[in-house]
Amino acid sequence: MDDTKILVVFFSKTGNTKQVAESISKSFNCDIEEIREKTNRKGIFKTIIEIKDAILGNETTICNTQKDPSEYDVVIIGTPVWASHITPAIRSYVSKNKDKIKCTAFFNTHGTDKPKEFKVFKDLEKIIPKKPKALMDISKAELKNGDYKEKIEIFRADLIEYIK
Ligand SMILES: Cc1cc2nc3c(=O)[nH]c(=O)nc-3n(C[C@H](O)[C@H](O)[C@H](O)COP(=O)(O)O)c2cc1C
Repeated sequence: MDDTKILVVFFSKTGNTKQVAESISKSFNCDIEEIREKTNRKGIFKTIIEIKDAILGNETTICNTQKDPSEYDVVIIGTPVWASHITPAIRSYVSKNKDKIKCTAFFNTHGTDKPKEFKVFKDLEKIIPKKPKALMDISKAELKNGDYKEKIEIFRADLIEYIK
């Protein structure tokens, strides 16, 4: 794993996915890139719009990124779950960079305890036609009670298994 160049890319609105991405970056000793939306969603209808965009698979305008994914052996992609789907910001990033990603692994953070019902990983696999080498989902409760740390170690072991 030492020679393998890994980048963790994430979008986070309220900090949960960022917390996990930063832990991954620390544990894997790898680079990190935060995806930011150019348009700051505001107003009383913003959550409804976010849900609608996630369900419809809409993209959004994202800020320029710093890292070139083609320079990495593995690109790990993390997103919050929105209405069971990926966020528009991650959809935009992945659509733009899919041809530059050699190998991938996915994670999400979510509010409920029903990760099997989410379509997040299927959404990503539809855009990047490569089977992810590791998958991880982390609930808000696991973030709070610290269980997410063990999940990150399992995620890491799954990736090492693939890389060696
Ligand atoms: C618009 C919106 C839709 C959401 N939909 C779901 C959902 O379908 N299932 C779920 O478990 N959590 C849902 N959540 C909760 C987030 O997935 C969860 O809080 C996540 O950890 C937030 O990540 P962040 O802090 O990185 O933004 C939703 C949150 C938002 C804002």
